[in-house]
Amino acid sequence: MIVALLNQKGGVGKTTLALHLAGQWAREGQRVTVIDADPQGSALDWSAQRAREGLPRLFGVIGLARDTLHHEAPELAQGVDHVVIDGPPRVAALLRSALLARFVLNRYAARTVIARETRLALAGHEPAVLAARIGQRVAFADAARTGRLVCDLRPHGIAAREIAALTAEIGGLVS
Ligand SMILES: Nc1ncnc2c1ncn2[C@@H]1O[C@H](COP(=O)(O)OP(=O)(O)OP(=O)(O)O)[C@@H](O)[C@H]1O
Ligand SMILES: [Mg+2]
Repeated sequence: MIVALLNQKGGVGKTTLALHLAGQWAREGQRVTVIDADPQGSALDWSAQRAREGLPRLFGVIGLARDTLHHEAPELAQGVDHVVIDGPPRVAALLRSALLARFVLNRYAARTVIARETRLALAGHEPAVLAARIGQRVAFADAARTGRLVCDLRPHGIAAREIAALTAEIGGLVS
């Protein structure tokens, strides 16, 4: 499967979710490549930090910040089970090749007005919203800084469970 995390807005968690989705699949024994399509290179930075920390490599990260990415992704997908693309700032070219678009709610705080309004705004919307939601959790910030995943920090924590549920839901979309 080729999954791209995209959003017009910056700082919404594309890199966080791309790394955690890839990490979860890798932990389940699947071969994964992450394509860092953002010139900022945050996924590459995370991977380098992870290596400096002496932590095991879970998946390769390739830097490929070009508009032609949608042509190259299928080829990169050949040797692996999944390609996860950490989205670029401009997404027009990639969106053209999105076959199955879905929203994922990140930094979701269930009992807030904004969460309720978002739910209402997206209700019955196409593309549909994934049922799995990711809460606002300090563990994600710690993970980003230290080249870790939330499951490295707290294997049985809520954040790790949310990531497992999100990965399972995405994996089930086309199988
Ligand atoms: N569920 C979450 N809970 C708490 N913090 C989060 C969560 N998701 C992301 N963050 C934090 O929010 C910040 C932005 O996340 P991230 O870098 O993943 O976003 P991005 O969409 O890739 O940003 P950019 O547009 O700069 O590439 C980071 O500090 C990250 O640790
Ligand atoms: Mg990013």
